[in-house]
Amino acid sequence: MLKQLLEGTFRCPPQTTRSCSSNMADTWQSVMDHAVAVARKAGEVVRGALTEDRKVTTKSSAVDLVTQTDQAVEQLIIQSVKEKFPTHRFIGEESVAAGEACVLTEEPTWIIDPIDGTTNFVHSFPFVAVSIGFSVSKQVEFGVVYSCLEDKMYTARRGKGAFCNGEPLQVSEQKEIQHSIIATEFGSSRDPEAVDKIFISLRNVLSLPVHGVRGAGTAAINMCLVASGCAEAYYEIGIHVWDVAAGSLIVSEAGGVLMDVEGGEIDLMSRRIIAANNKTIAQRIVQEIASFSPPRDDAPPLKQ
Ligand code: IPD
Repeated sequence: MLKQLLEGTFRCPPQTTRSCSSNMADTWQSVMDHAVAVARKAGEVVRGALTEDRKVTTKSSAVDLVTQTDQAVEQLIIQSVKEKFPTHRFIGEESVAAGEACVLTEEPTWIIDPIDGTTNFVHSFPFVAVSIGFSVSKQVEFGVVYSCLEDKMYTARRGKGAFCNGEPLQVSEQKEIQHSIIATEFGSSRDPEAVDKIFISLRNVLSLPVHGVRGAGTAAINMCLVASGCAEAYYEIGIHVWDVAAGSLIVSEAGGVLMDVEGGEIDLMSRRIIAANNKTIAQRIVQEIASFSPPRDDAPPLKQ
């Protein structure tokens, strides 16, 4: 299949998703159906690539990894969308790494992380997701996260709920942070100041105390775990819009809330997020975070 991809002969399979039922025509439902089909196909490629040697290179830091599969899967998704929806725009992790602008306009835009959890993928650590968010007028209309090794297809359509393999999702009802599991990650920056702040936040959260701190190694899956009620919240500073666009809708459609780490409104380009089951838990986490602001995803490139 990787061969088909590289030769550009790959075609998407027939659509296999269950549509959200509604009597009203839904403008974006057929687009979402395509996203689910292509995410499933991308997941097959990722699973197949786990049996092969993975050639690893680095991007922004020595621990920001990328493989040929990340790039091939992103191209697979983009090419198949371009054939069906030629006017749509893209923000893709690997396209941005290759120098494309990361700008969210009012136009229909696919926000793609071909492999969320690339480090996991490189090490065969078994949580890896294909993440596709779709935004119109700067609002996420649907989100698709395919956890490929678990074969779990998480989906959300704005105003129509969140699902995992067709079953509705609901966040946890827990209001006590001391009875919660909090997910977070260390990210791929090793800037000493950032690392210090990440550890201060972690120590504060752990010492509340909480029942536990977890991290799946992928922002998208962490957010799906919040949506599923398995964790009360996920927070991170340093993520990118492609890591969280899809997951953000899945959390809010499962009844959860999104917040900036300083308590303000979420801004998907800001590289900071709290996704929680409710406002009480989110605001409690805000109090414990030593915040900082990495360069925004949509910041103009630095002049040489
Ligand atoms: C990364 C994962 C990781 C998170 C990083 C992300 P990638 O995405 O989501 O869990 O800590 O901040 O960049 O690079 O594997 O797509």
